[in-house]
Amino acid sequence: IPVEAFDLVVFGGTGDLAERKLLPALYQRQRAGQFSEPTRIIGASRTTMTDDEYRAFASKAISEHVKAEEIDPAQLESFIARLSYVAVDAKTGDGFPKLKKAIGNSKNVLVFYLAVAPALFGDISNYLKANDLVTPTARIVLEKPIGRDLASARELNDQIGKVFSEQQIFRIDHYLGKETVQNLMALRFANALYEPLWNSAHIDHVQITVAETVGLEDRITYYDKAGALRDMVQNHMLQLLCLVAMEAPASMEADAVRDEKLKVLRSLKRINGQEAPKSTVRGQYRAGASATGPVKGYVEELGNGQSETETFVAIKAEIENWRWAGVPFYLRTGKRLASRVSEIVIEFKPIPHSIFEESAGNVIANQLVIRLQPDDGVKQWIMIKDPGPGGMRLRNVALDMSFAESFQERNPDAYERLLMDVIRGNQTLFMRRDEVEAAWKWIDPIQGAWADSHQETQGYTSGTWGPSASIALIERDGRTWHES
Ligand code: BG6
Repeated sequence: IPVEAFDLVVFGGTGDLAERKLLPALYQRQRAGQFSEPTRIIGASRTTMTDDEYRAFASKAISEHVKAEEIDPAQLESFIARLSYVAVDAKTGDGFPKLKKAIGNSKNVLVFYLAVAPALFGDISNYLKANDLVTPTARIVLEKPIGRDLASARELNDQIGKVFSEQQIFRIDHYLGKETVQNLMALRFANALYEPLWNSAHIDHVQITVAETVGLEDRITYYDKAGALRDMVQNHMLQLLCLVAMEAPASMEADAVRDEKLKVLRSLKRINGQEAPKSTVRGQYRAGASATGPVKGYVEELGNGQSETETFVAIKAEIENWRWAGVPFYLRTGKRLASRVSEIVIEFKPIPHSIFEESAGNVIANQLVIRLQPDDGVKQWIMIKDPGPGGMRLRNVALDMSFAESFQERNPDAYERLLMDVIRGNQTLFMRRDEVEAAWKWIDPIQGAWADSHQETQGYTSGTWGPSASIALIERDGRTWHES
């Protein structure tokens, strides 16, 4: 279904996110026939560039980041024709009057996408306002990180809040745009099967893993100041946790969903200095191997010889409410791990009593595995009788629903979905101010405990599953990490 015509201004229009994600995603939506006329996309950044140079930049980005078979020359041409470029300087305000002129008296939905460092969010908002660009229906999209702790997040939110109302602000967490993440809501709330079991009476524990094989990539400056707790846990991992743990919202309306997520964040048990060594593990990758061969350790990649920044985190999180009391949520995420896999594992309680002989084998607790990537799908592990005449022998097998096998449709990138939601004005999959701040409120004490106690980052060999302390964290409770 086509969306209303829009004017999208991408600040950081020549940057990495625009190149790898935004321009390819927008092209895909053009190809899907979702644009109405006269939709326009305006790149903005400090670089001086002509419209044609920007169009060439976009063409190259699309040819590099979209599969060859998905490039339709006619669609690409129409897409490129929508692009123009304005050089702006967020520090001095140069170029903003030109931007105003470029937009003119357009009646299109107006969106400003800030794919820039958060330090510029306030300045850009102010110049937009000063140049009369903030119309009542204009929207602003913010990329993470929104702050590096609660105080700085509040400050950023205040700065933007002076110019835009909360209904105009779209804080992106691209995990919420992933197909399987939205499927989590369908699975929970469009099926009668799971919800009665979805609580501490029937669920033993939950595991959320976001494992990456990549290392630092080109983000040294940002990453070394952030670390995995801020980079992944504060946003993506906690959002996943919220979707698993929240109560059924009254509707899919944005605030109904966000209110429920917020309640979960506010129920998270605070991890203080005393708890941190028991409930958290921080690790940093050392030299090792990846699928493509030997790789350097984190500090060698950094090149400055020393850093305590964590590239791996494991946390035992607890939610203090009626539904989840006593059900740990084990979170782990890291770079340079053994394989790229993101998944949520719901492990149900063991059966209360086994009627089978020992020779039948162990009865393994049921697991529901929601796989976000790669090969997204849902697997329900159940016990069955081994086929054949060999007597009663039990076996754990999966009812396996792979999305790639079940559906022909191409799986759109998270940004495609989220960008179109911005144009539609649908905030359901975007984070509200209070959610972001509640997440920081839980993260800050962990960060503080690490700093105060000098809890060390433990080395792990690249290509493994992280430090052994992460295995100990879960095994102390008599449980093990799910093997993908
Ligand atoms: C980003 C983080 O938000 O998410 C990156 O900053 C991380 O460090 C990325 O690599 C992971 O996203 P995806 O979609 O590849 O799982």
